[in-house]
Amino acid sequence: MKFFVDTADVPAIAELNELGMVDGVTTNPSLIKKSGRDILEVTKEICDLVDGPVSAEVTATDAETMIAEGRKLAKIADNIAVKVPLTWDGLKACKVLTGEGNMVNVTLCFSANQALLAAKAGATFISPFIGRLDDINLDGLDLIADIRTIYDNFGYETEILAASIRTANHIAECAKIGADVITAPPAVISGMVKHPLTDKGLDAFLADIKEAGISIL
Ligand code: G3P
Repeated sequence: MKFFVDTADVPAIAELNELGMVDGVTTNPSLIKKSGRDILEVTKEICDLVDGPVSAEVTATDAETMIAEGRKLAKIADNIAVKVPLTWDGLKACKVLTGEGNMVNVTLCFSANQALLAAKAGATFISPFIGRLDDINLDGLDLIADIRTIYDNFGYETEILAASIRTANHIAECAKIGADVITAPPAVISGMVKHPLTDKGLDAFLADIKEAGISIL
């Protein structure tokens, strides 16, 4: 499963990238705002840093302007994936931009039918938002499973990019279901390493190392 990092924080991306944990990056207007950076400048910096797809989101809501923005974003680097919202205009923009050879990530997906439309419009990635469904007492992971079934039934090549990931458990569950990609904040990815039994076991080993005077170097 591919790991994308859901942030526009360049040092955080660089740290995970050094460990080989970064297969791509996703950004959105809220993450750009949080970075305090200019969208074109920070996106270029991220594209230079990572080899995989870097999603940059359009700001318009009509297809014509989304297409113009998408073309401009795509000029930043070869690894740009233009991100468009899952609206009728977003699907129109998706069809045109993928037809021109660009990667397109269709975002703000909250239903299996929306994901089906995105696949038919040629989306490279579909971004179902797990956490925001959980927030309203629905099960975001059920949506990932439904999309997996539908895409497999018909052989759609659109990659399922599970987004709005809030916990390490979301990531393990997405991996079991067969999401192609997860995108998560850096802290959620690094948090996957934590287990209390690892800490407890290491404490016991360290005590024995000290008591027995075990030394290697
Ligand atoms: O990738 C989408 C993600 O940024 C949304 O996450 O936590 O704001 O729902 P969240």
